[in-house]
Amino acid sequence: MNNRRPRTCSPARLPAVAVAVLGFHLLVAPAVLAADPPHWYSTSLVIGCTEQCHSLHNAAGGGLTRAAGNANLCQSCHNPSGLADQAPIPSSASAIPGFSGSSHAFGVPAVNGAYSTERPLNTEMDLRIMGDNVVCSTCHDQHAGTSTQGGTPKISTPEKVTSLGAGTASSQGTFNGALGVWYLLEIDGGGTQVDATFRWSKDNGTSWMVQTVPVGNGSPVVLDSGVEVVFSGVNPGDFVVGEQWEFFGTWPFLRTNLDSGDINSVDKFCRDCHRNWVMTHDTDLVAGGGVRNWDGNFKSHPVGVTLNANGLAYDRAQPLDGNGQAQTAGASPDVDGNPTNDLAFDSSGNVQCLSCHGVHYADSNTATVDAP
Ligand code: HEC
Ligand code: HEC
Ligand code: HEC
Ligand code: HEC
Repeated sequence: MNNRRPRTCSPARLPAVAVAVLGFHLLVAPAVLAADPPHWYSTSLVIGCTEQCHSLHNAAGGGLTRAAGNANLCQSCHNPSGLADQAPIPSSASAIPGFSGSSHAFGVPAVNGAYSTERPLNTEMDLRIMGDNVVCSTCHDQHAGTSTQGGTPKISTPEKVTSLGAGTASSQGTFNGALGVWYLLEIDGGGTQVDATFRWSKDNGTSWMVQTVPVGNGSPVVLDSGVEVVFSGVNPGDFVVGEQWEFFGTWPFLRTNLDSGDINSVDKFCRDCHRNWVMTHDTDLVAGGGVRNWDGNFKSHPVGVTLNANGLAYDRAQPLDGNGQAQTAGASPDVDGNPTNDLAFDSSGNVQCLSCHGVHYADSNTATVDAP
């Protein structure tokens, strides 16, 4: 079928010489690994089970991983000249509050007296507190780019695999597929944006979803899962048969769902390690953590409540955006053209830690768009 082939590390993927070794490895550790794009082979990127991350012999890391530290391993690609050069997270990004950094701290002790943090109650997260430290894999399951774990989905910018003509392709939309996907676009009828055609694949060209689709004369062409592409090129020869681009749609590989609902609800991410700081507007939800029964310890701004939850009518109907205008209600609150400074609520309209805080690429400046 046109759908994804299963992304498992079956011996068939590896050079023959490695098969015997892997077979042995699987007997010892029967769990079969799988990963979702972009953490899996595309047409041009080689990202699989053994190439970068896992090595079967002489592995430096405790989990048979190639880099001794978890953050190190991630940073071996997530650096400005690595395979994930579009999403670098250098050690200098790890926050020292009031001083430096643009990213939630990593490679730091999970238990921090000053911020009253504790080891997570979520057992999968707690398993990935490594050497007492919070690392990338504490918060991320690097194998699972799935919608069930949520977060903000991403559609990456198409990159040319070949370079035959001057025509360009860009992407837009909001990815809503269940799992991460690599999309491959290939021109199958040459010409300009008026008469050229293309085909597209979700398995790196093994099979094609649809063929000879008009490139759309500058208008968006809908693929699937909320993904659209726009081709431009008005000169003869801009689109040449065989020209290819690849890009992905995926989810941010979260280990558990982001916080939503009130402070006692099931989905806790920030409110897990930071549970001693959760605060609500009243006495009802958690002992000592209500504005009206405050126990005197440091807390966050109230979370897990909607605007005007206390009925005192001093909240605005909508938060203001960076330019002083009221944000729009709902999932796309942006009115100042900078979606990275929006005070966004969870899907049930509650204030959460992430309404005010970013996780990565957060430069703490409302005037600039946060980006790698
Ligand atoms: C072999 C290379 C490689 C390694 C190692 C790697 N990544 Fe990635 N990762 C990528 C690439 C490529 C992307 C896509 C970057 C882009 O273009 O935005 C990516 C994207 C991501 C994303 C973002 C997905 C999205 O929604 O945009 C997350 C989260 C992520 N990686 C986490 C990790 C973590 C955590 C580790 C370590 C456990 C890790 N990665 C190790 C290659 C790698
Ligand atoms: C304290 C938890 C935490 C730690 C530690 C952490 N991340 Fe993240 N990361 C997140 C969350 C949460 C998101 C998604 C935010 C969203 O979807 O709004 C995210 C998103 C990302 C993204 C997508 C880009 C973005 O800003 O949305 C990349 C890439 C990424 N993380 C890589 C890493 C790497 C590499 C490390 C270690 C060097 C790391 N993360 C450490 C929680 C964490
Ligand atoms: C796995 C545990 C864990 C999770 C999950 C977690 N934090 Fe933290 N957080 C910590 C620890 C530990 C520190 C203290 C870091 C240090 O040593 O500076 C911290 C520090 C912070 C700081 C101070 C700046 C910094 O990075 O040092 C902020 C702000 C913060 N966390 C917000 C969040 C938000 C927002 C989330 C949810 C996306 C979150 N945290 C999820 C453990 C966690
Ligand atoms: C209404 C907005 C808002 C919400 C909601 C919010 N914060 Fe903050 N938080 C801030 C601001 C603003 C600062 C910076 C204050 C400063 O620098 O003194 C901050 C600072 C912090 C710090 C660093 C303190 C320091 O000493 O520099 C931590 C840790 C933190 N917040 C954690 C959280 C956690 C965890 C949550 C969710 C339980 C949360 N915050 C919810 C606005 C918010």
